[in-house]
Amino acid sequence: MTAGSTMTDRKAPETERQPLVVGLGGTLRADSSTERALRHCLYAVERRGGRTALFSGEQINLPMYNPQDPVRTPEAVALVEALRAADAVIVGSPGYHGAISGLVKNALDYVEDMRTDPTVYLDNKPWGCITCAYGWQAAVGTLGQLRGIGHALRAWPTPIGVAINSADKIWDDAGVLIDTGVQGQLELLAVQVLTSAKPIGTI
Ligand SMILES: Cc1cc2nc3c(=O)[nH]c(=O)nc-3n(C[C@H](O)[C@H](O)[C@H](O)COP(=O)(O)O)c2cc1C
Repeated sequence: MTAGSTMTDRKAPETERQPLVVGLGGTLRADSSTERALRHCLYAVERRGGRTALFSGEQINLPMYNPQDPVRTPEAVALVEALRAADAVIVGSPGYHGAISGLVKNALDYVEDMRTDPTVYLDNKPWGCITCAYGWQAAVGTLGQLRGIGHALRAWPTPIGVAINSADKIWDDAGVLIDTGVQGQLELLAVQVLTSAKPIGTI
């Protein structure tokens, strides 16, 4: 996985391209569990032949999105370019006060820069959702919000979404995912995203 890099090989014929799945999310906390879950899912994508790019931490710590200011930081440009190239997107957010975090929402607001693209927003792209919160209420509520944002961006939320209750023992002390239920859900999310991902321009 190449963090924050755009990995699409535009010179390759469409039939030879493996789907590019862009992951976006996590928190600014060191060793963010949301980022860990996102990485776990992206590794599952790679094991199945997909290409991935991850945007997390400082890569999504972007200035507050201003639709009237055309100036964009290099990080913002890289994110939007990757989302343009993406065949699918997986987004991971913590539940903060019962909702998607400001960090992740602000990064997603930059999709507005794609409103006049030939592919408007994330039109027709699979949209996988992962949430982490210290309780089911915020984890599940935030998952619903992420799905709604996907709809607004013209993406297709996958049938499965993964809500993780951080109050449970999900990870071991080394940060390895030990909950087999969550493992299975993240694997299934990778499968569903890849199943419905189509190279841009073939639909
Ligand atoms: C500002 C803030 C608000 C939070 N609000 C909630 C909340 O409303 N409900 C909840 O269950 N957990 C809440 N949490 C806990 C986080 O959702 C939880 O610890 C999550 O796993 C953090 O993700 P991370 O490990 O990726 O940083 C909050 C944490 C922070 C820092």
